[in-house]
Amino acid sequence: MLLKFLILLVQEWGFSDMDTVFSHEGKKVYVAGHSGLAGSALVRRLAGEKCTLLTASHSELDLTNQEAVSQWFISNSPDVVYLAAATAGGIHANYERPGEFIYNNLAIQNNVVHASYIHGVKKLCFLGSSCIYPRLAPQPMTEKSLLTGSLDKHNVWYAVAKIAGLMLVDGYSKQYGCDFISVMPANLYGPGDKYTEKNSHVVAALIKRFHEAKLSNDASVSIWGTGNAMREFLHCDDMADACVYLMENYTSPDIVNIGTGLDLSIKDLAYLIKDVVGFEGNVVFDTSKPDGMPRKVVDVSKLQSIGWQSKISLRAGIASTYEEYLRL
Ligand SMILES: NC(=O)c1ccc[n+]([C@@H]2O[C@H](COP(=O)([O-])OP(=O)(O)OC[C@H]3O[C@@H](n4cnc5c(N)ncnc54)[C@H](OP(=O)(O)O)[C@@H]3O)[C@@H](O)[C@H]2O)c1
Repeated sequence: MLLKFLILLVQEWGFSDMDTVFSHEGKKVYVAGHSGLAGSALVRRLAGEKCTLLTASHSELDLTNQEAVSQWFISNSPDVVYLAAATAGGIHANYERPGEFIYNNLAIQNNVVHASYIHGVKKLCFLGSSCIYPRLAPQPMTEKSLLTGSLDKHNVWYAVAKIAGLMLVDGYSKQYGCDFISVMPANLYGPGDKYTEKNSHVVAALIKRFHEAKLSNDASVSIWGTGNAMREFLHCDDMADACVYLMENYTSPDIVNIGTGLDLSIKDLAYLIKDVVGFEGNVVFDTSKPDGMPRKVVDVSKLQSIGWQSKISLRAGIASTYEEYLRL
């Protein structure tokens, strides 16, 4: 019965090797984009492995420069690569810099994935994003929704680049036998997030707004939309743990979602952050502003079937993120 179930899983998701266990021990592990939200979480997580971490700052190595990337791989010969470098940002940044979003991301992933193949990297993890799924994908979004409909027009440049990235991983795995994987994390939050007006994600933006309102004794904080939109938030340390787990236990270019599988309304999120920050005023919802998609949550049944589940509760994660914000 169990054997039949495993065979069905292989057929369903195309696992090429269910019992492969990859070890980081003794390997040189390069985290590209180590100073970012995702990359810094990967560095924290990998510090617990018996491996040698390799990093290079953006100013030391511009990953859009193919020659420089090739030279860096020759000089450093990484065994394992986590590709968490990207031109990333919200809708505003996408709209202001669409050319950069598509060019930089295509160039970074082309250069790093190709160099990894040429220089014999044993395993690579490409970080995609849940924004690769069609705008009207059924919720929760399964991996099978990929390329089944139109993308959200607000970040189409970024999403198309990311889809090209996971296809690059797929193509190099199929044609050259590379052991490369692609993961699709949900919205991230946590230490290392940006708190600038234009670039911040929703959790970081709300932490900053409620904190500043608390300091200035404001009567209320206004939030865009009705507050009814449902969203999922994944702590970046959970994401990093899932990436390391998948690198060690999953061998297939077929994409895997990483998330909690749990969503909540923006209203509930706002009240949670208000409570953690200790703001005592009111929350006002500006219903003249758009809500965006009514619901956005990834299906995590594939990830759970491989054996990983998120561990950090949203309240605990937001509390520790706020503590980190206070130390900035
Ligand atoms: N944040 C999320 O909610 C989220 C959700 C799902 C997936 N992801 C994925 O996670 C990855 C990283 O996102 P993030 O949120 O961690 O972004 P981030 O905080 O902006 O970090 C991006 C990192 O990439 C580096 N970088 C950018 N361009 C570079 C270049 N040309 N050469 C060298 N380094 C470069 C940045 O260095 P500098 O800062 O020095 O430029 C930074 O270390 C992306 O692939 C994204 O799709 C993120």
